Amino acid sequence: MTALSLQLQLLVRALKFRSELANSYQGVQLCLNQVSKLNELLDDLLDMTRIRTGQVVLNKTVVDLPELLHEIVNRFQPEAQALGTSLTITAENPLSGIWDPLRLEQIFTNLISNAIKYGNRQPVEISVSRRGSQGVVTVQDHGPGIEPEFQKKIFRRFERAPSCGHLGGLGLGLYITHQLVQAHQGTIRLRSEIGRGSQFIVTLPIADLSEGSLPVQKQAS
Ligand SMILES: Nc1ncnc2c1ncn2[C@@H]1O[C@H](COP(=O)(O)OP(=O)(O)O)[C@@H](O)[C@H]1O
Ligand SMILES: [Mg+2]
Repeated sequence: MTALSLQLQLLVRALKFRSELANSYQGVQLCLNQVSKLNELLDDLLDMTRIRTGQVVLNKTVVDLPELLHEIVNRFQPEAQALGTSLTITAENPLSGIWDPLRLEQIFTNLISNAIKYGNRQPVEISVSRRGSQGVVTVQDHGPGIEPEFQKKIFRRFERAPSCGHLGGLGLGLYITHQLVQAHQGTIRLRSEIGRGSQFIVTLPIADLSEGSLPVQKQAS
């Protein structure tokens, strides 16, 4: 897949300024987009297999939760702006814990991309706060909302609402998200009403970061 994307990227670059080959340029660009979608699907399928065979390994380290969410939100801004969706974040500082940064990124990328994708271009709001010994992240959209019947099975594999058929996806994102939150001993909850948007609430236990509770590296003597 990497070699394929690389070759297509080279082709796109070579064709970009050849006006007589504008159709070819567009065709190759389309292939590149499809390859990147295929890559995402493959990643989801691989993750599902890892989860089902108990092979998810968390690489935990100190993570600054507001900083991580700011980074993800910044990455989504161009896509949100292109759609005319306002994407905002409010965060309580400081808020650090011992989590797997790449897996947290995956969790919040899934939730924010859904909010943008299904949110009917309405504002999307992210909040990061602390509740006792939990970090709490909410992703709120003002889209169509989710029917109560579908809410019950939304975290299962391959589940997609019948109403969103044209927005391509496998229905694996929320399954993986749920499993990764659970692997962190966290929780994920959905509050949604038809016509009033959806709110996904993730809680993550903050491990004790006080001195002596972190793994200490041995000093060479
Ligand atoms: N914020 C949301 N608003 C409305 N529907 C949603 C939202 N997030 C998820 N859904 C519904 O839940 C389904 C499952 O989501 P997900 O597991 O991320 O799969 P995918 O996005 O690939 O379809 C989506 O197909 C959609 O029907
Ligand atoms: Mg999704």
